[in-house]
Amino acid sequence: MCGIIGYIGSADAVNVVINGLRHLEYRGYDSAGVAYFNGTGVEIKKCKGKIRDLESILYTEKPSSRIAIGHTRWATHGVPSEYNAHPHHSETVVLVHNGIIENYQELKEELLREGYTFSSETDTEVLCHLIDRYHRDLPLDEALRKAIQRVRGSYALVVLSKSQPDKLVGLRKDSPLVLGIGEDGYYLASDVPAFLTRTKKVVFLDDGELVVVSAEGYRVTDLNGDSIQKSIEEITWSPSMADKGEFKHYMLKEIYEQPRAIADTLRGRIIQESWKVNIAEFGLDEDYLKRLKRVTISACGTSWHAALAGKYMIEQIARVPVDVDLASEFRYREPIIQEGDLFIAITQSGETADTLAAQREASRLGAKTLSICNVLGSTSAREADSVFFTHSGPEIGVASTKAFTSQLLSLYLFAIMLASAKGRIEQSHCESLLREATLLPEKIEMILKNEALIAEVAKRYFKVRDFFFLGRGILYPIALEGALKLKEISYIHAEGYPAGEMKHGPIALIDEEMPVLFLIQRSELRKKIYANIEEVKSRGGRVIVVKSTEEPIGNVESINIPSTNQYLESILMVIPLQLLAYHIGVLRGCDVDQPRNLAKSVTVE
Ligand code: AGP
Repeated sequence: MCGIIGYIGSADAVNVVINGLRHLEYRGYDSAGVAYFNGTGVEIKKCKGKIRDLESILYTEKPSSRIAIGHTRWATHGVPSEYNAHPHHSETVVLVHNGIIENYQELKEELLREGYTFSSETDTEVLCHLIDRYHRDLPLDEALRKAIQRVRGSYALVVLSKSQPDKLVGLRKDSPLVLGIGEDGYYLASDVPAFLTRTKKVVFLDDGELVVVSAEGYRVTDLNGDSIQKSIEEITWSPSMADKGEFKHYMLKEIYEQPRAIADTLRGRIIQESWKVNIAEFGLDEDYLKRLKRVTISACGTSWHAALAGKYMIEQIARVPVDVDLASEFRYREPIIQEGDLFIAITQSGETADTLAAQREASRLGAKTLSICNVLGSTSAREADSVFFTHSGPEIGVASTKAFTSQLLSLYLFAIMLASAKGRIEQSHCESLLREATLLPEKIEMILKNEALIAEVAKRYFKVRDFFFLGRGILYPIALEGALKLKEISYIHAEGYPAGEMKHGPIALIDEEMPVLFLIQRSELRKKIYANIEEVKSRGGRVIVVKSTEEPIGNVESINIPSTNQYLESILMVIPLQLLAYHIGVLRGCDVDQPRNLAKSVTVE
């Protein structure tokens, strides 16, 4: 997933764009570049590596310009290199792009036959020459509207014309693009943090919308050139919330933000006078829920783990059957969706390509779609029939933490709301479930106070090569999440497994080199786990337990957490696993905010 930003106004455009790219670094990238007018023409500076490398080649020129575009590239076509870095250009245009041009090969062959020459291996460069073909006779925006009709794929584009240094043109399809409206100019970017220090006024563009921006204003049109009125939104979170503050890493900051994030997820969602869930927040009506017979949940990665846990909550609280699908599998398995089924997409970014494709497929098959999402204005949120925003604030670290616990809480509220609508829950039970949810922030604070103990445990395990995470019931998905956190942050091979499944093969891996972390719930299931622990200990395995019971367990490392109900245990149990993965990653010298090969949002299939 690339980061793009363009600026036009009265400030130093290159400086604005470079700072904007810094705020997009979290998206993960391998090269960067900027283009600006230098008074006589367009200057393009780009390089493989980080923004600091770009600055070292840029500021020898002391550029001053009132218009500039910039890009951080996460390679999809063509190796990370200076020549593949954006901005790309043709004779008449320069542009930056986030997305994938699926039919770039056929377009490239056509353009080569027409005599165009290429200087990169990227799909993006095809767009430059395609627009160029029309821009010789048409203004930039009309040339872009013509060119884009030939293109299949996903794109967020910011384009400037070498002959028209007074405007930028932006266009999006299946890749986010936001317009920032500032006191001293206008911004076009893939994400709000790129310009949040300069303005909180934003316009979220939708697919197929093109915007022409000058220093004096902007105009949004469709691909026919007809004007579209767009609302101006005010971003509620502050720039500091998108910075690390006093924390060494975004990941640790976001782990510590979970009490507030959980409180924000709850805010306005519980009607405390009646102890009911505020159904309006889900955008679903009571009659629909009363008739609802089946739920399908689809997501990727950590969000998929939330989906798996949500199945336990919804089926046990509301007694409605739930199917859970990996989004990358859903649309290829010829899913059976009945008219009126509810399809829930869980996505922190709202831009994950596989999840968007699953959501669109479910909608095409007749499902009603609900997006549980963390990003206002994201594609999933805007395309779904209804949206439940997790409100956990910007999540910058690639490893999802606060968004995950907010997703679990969102599914818990949904389960209670559905049970109430179906008359399947006593009001007293509903009240006790909701009251317990309001206690979560302080219980998470208690766990965070234990960080030093968890950091000590990390010191004993950061050199291992493998790790098992085991759980039963709703804690099985949490075991999967603990394993994913560890593997993506520390590069240790880690597996999450149902504890009861070990004897069917995986126990062959157990020896004194293999640490096994067990998640132990308060319910009767814990006795089964005790038996599984003995199986591992008797084979020399090194055992760590995370538990909320006071019952002592001999010869194991214990991490204790506060007690709560059987559903919200999933939230409390994951906090120590997040901290364990973080500290092991730091001890191993890993880049915990931008782990190798990973991006914050996977906007390509
Ligand atoms: C989680 O730590 C990972 N970064 C990754 O698995 C992520 O959860 C997945 O890509 C889904 O992202 P989304 O929630 O933004 O759709």
